Amino acid sequence: MPDRRDFLKASAAGLLGASMLRPIMGQASGAPFKLAASEGEVVFGGEQENATRVMYYNQSVPGPVIRIPQGRESIIQFHNSLDEPSSVHWHGLRIDNAMDGVPGMTQSPVMPGEQFEYRLRPPDAGTYWYHTHMRSWAQLALGLAGVLIVEEDNPPQVDRDLVFAIDDWRLDRKMQFDTNSLGSMHDWSHGGRLGNYITVNGAAEPVFEVARGERIRLRLVNIANARVMHMLFNEPAISVVAIDGQPVEPFAPESGRIRLAPGQRADLIIDMSADPGSRSAIEVVIGEYAYEIATFVYGQQAKREQLLETPIRLPDNPVNQTVLPSEFRHVPLRMEGGAMGGMRSATFEGREMDIRELVRNGKVWAFNGIVGMPQEPLFRVERGTAISIDVHNDNGWPHAMHIHGHHFIHDRNSGMWRDTALFQRGERGSMRFIADNPGKWLIHCHMVEHMAGGMVTWFEVS
Ligand code: C2O
Ligand code: CU
Repeated sequence: MPDRRDFLKASAAGLLGASMLRPIMGQASGAPFKLAASEGEVVFGGEQENATRVMYYNQSVPGPVIRIPQGRESIIQFHNSLDEPSSVHWHGLRIDNAMDGVPGMTQSPVMPGEQFEYRLRPPDAGTYWYHTHMRSWAQLALGLAGVLIVEEDNPPQVDRDLVFAIDDWRLDRKMQFDTNSLGSMHDWSHGGRLGNYITVNGAAEPVFEVARGERIRLRLVNIANARVMHMLFNEPAISVVAIDGQPVEPFAPESGRIRLAPGQRADLIIDMSADPGSRSAIEVVIGEYAYEIATFVYGQQAKREQLLETPIRLPDNPVNQTVLPSEFRHVPLRMEGGAMGGMRSATFEGREMDIRELVRNGKVWAFNGIVGMPQEPLFRVERGTAISIDVHNDNGWPHAMHIHGHHFIHDRNSGMWRDTALFQRGERGSMRFIADNPGKWLIHCHMVEHMAGGMVTWFEVS
């Protein structure tokens, strides 16, 4: 459970946090954009706080917001200044397999001091993110993540385009990253690494100045290792216009609640409707408590007296216009293991092991009785095959399933194209898509400790 005191400390620091918000924009069209991973220090909560040692991109936590155009190639030069290997994965982008950033599968790990040039030509506009795909249970927890925006050719008219990258840190009383608990088997076999300190764009409880009548596009990205964010907005005029980057029929979230599993995104249009001088909090609900993670503060000047009423519908992307057929090749995927899951044994590296031996190897989860990356893919298909991965979450925990290089429909009629879907415990559901991107692609739980503990497999499209 988060420590109430840590959150109170965060509140007191809120205003200072705001002054620290320096949005760093990267324009990656034209000249190559340079992205360097290194170690260093940041201050989350204001000047009186201790600095925290992190890993970051371009010396900021989260990394710079990178904006690239839809349908055209952008080059990102990644330089690894860490003293361990790394790689960058472009979460949700349907790009060339060789650019997917999975070490050992789509590329070699980028060694310390080395570079890798990523060439991205994303077919779909929207809100995405990038993160390390090397020892993510440590490197991602330490801060190696950032937001990637693929810009529409004709973006909708808004007054402001705002990003909230929401993260969850486990810090000690001196604001130091809790390194000792990295790799904790308790975390790995339960809900993953949960923190006690939530940041928005790397700041504790930042304040955003807004004006009545202003129309804001707010891009929410959950970059936490494992925490499902149950967010609560206290603004009445909100509509959700995209999920995991893909346009949806705009809808109002029920009671202002938006749930984001690790890796998921949502784009909102908010028409700021409170009176000048007032404030409204954005909260995350954890157990019985609601914690303020950011605040909108209304200035004295209204932007317009009448709120804009024309709804915004984002232009369609190629992927969300896909029509799924009625016949699928069915691929069962049973998820098992974890604390209280009753898994007795599973196959790891080609050998059947009992649970004690698995735990000694740091493995506690399995897909279809197999732990971790199997030699043979979960399935191998020709390009264009319609696939239904029939998931049975047969254990005591929710899991955020992510498929690389493709978007899918989570269950038959939802009409939403996602790249990450939350499966509740006991749930049976499906992920349906056309396997149309050639190469080797991962499927894994995005609670990254679960991935490290065995919840990862792959498929191949020829
Ligand atoms: Cu966002 Cu395989 O990851
Ligand atoms: Cu999981």
